[in-house]
Amino acid sequence: MLKEFNLDGVVPWGRRFDEYEAFFALGDVATGTAILDAGGGPASFAVEAAARGFDVTAADPIYGFDGGKIRRRFEETARAMREGMRLAAYRFKWNFYGSEEAVHRRRREALDLFVADFERRRGSRYVAAALPDLPFADDVYDLALSSHFLFLYGDELDCDFHVAAVRELARVAREVRIFPLINLDGRPSSHLPAVMTELEASGFFPELVTVPFEFQIGATQMLRVRRG
Ligand SMILES: C[S@@+](CC[C@H](N)C(=O)[O-])C[C@H]1O[C@@H](n2cnc3c(N)ncnc32)[C@H](O)[C@@H]1O
Repeated sequence: MLKEFNLDGVVPWGRRFDEYEAFFALGDVATGTAILDAGGGPASFAVEAAARGFDVTAADPIYGFDGGKIRRRFEETARAMREGMRLAAYRFKWNFYGSEEAVHRRRREALDLFVADFERRRGSRYVAAALPDLPFADDVYDLALSSHFLFLYGDELDCDFHVAAVRELARVAREVRIFPLINLDGRPSSHLPAVMTELEASGFFPELVTVPFEFQIGATQMLRVRRG
C-alpha cells in the first residue's frame, strides 16, 4: 500500500470558508443557522462563517492549547504535508486549488485568520472538546460538520469510534454532514458501510450526497445524517 503522507497522528491543518462551503454543499444552509464545526482545528471556517451571519461554535481537543502552540504544531507538520502532497500529486484533482503551493498558502491564510480569532474567542466560539463526548446539550445545533477528521483517519480510529462519534454529533445537532469519506491514502473508507448500517439500525437516516468539490480523487460525496 502506498503511503505518501508520513504523519504522526491527526494533523492541525485548517481550511477556509469557501472550501467548507463546497465540501458540505452549504448553499442550502440559511444564515443564522447554529453550526458546530467538530474537529475544527486551525480552520478559519468559524471566523469567516460568523462574519457571514452564521452562528458557529468550533470544538477540538487542540483548543486546550494556546495559539502559539497550535501554530508551532502546524509548522512541525507543514513539511511532511507538503512532501506528502508532492508525492501523492497524482491522487488529486487540481482544478480547485491549482497547485500544491496554493494549497499551502491557503492553509497559512486559514491558520492566521484562526489564530487571531482564537486569541479573542477561546472558550466561547472555540471549545476544547473531543469526540465522542461533547460538552453540549441535546439539539443545541441545527447542523454539525466534520471536515477531514472522521473517515479520513480511519486507519487510526476504528469503526466503533466512528459510530459513537456520529451518534454524538447527531445528539447535539439535528443534522450532521461529514466530508471526505475516504482514507488518507485515497481508498474509500472501509468503515463507511458498517457505520451507515449501525446508524440505520438505531433509527437514523444516513445518506450519501454528491457535493460540488473533488480534490482527493473519488472523494465526491458527503455523509448526511438526519434523525427520524
Ligand atoms: C486535519 S484537521 C481538520 C481541521 C478542519 N476540520 C479542516 O478541515 O480544516 C483534523 C482535526 O481533528 C482534530 N481531532 C483529533 N482528535 C479529535 C477528536 N477526538 N474529536 C474532535 N476532533 C479531533 C485535530 O485536533 C485536528 O484539528
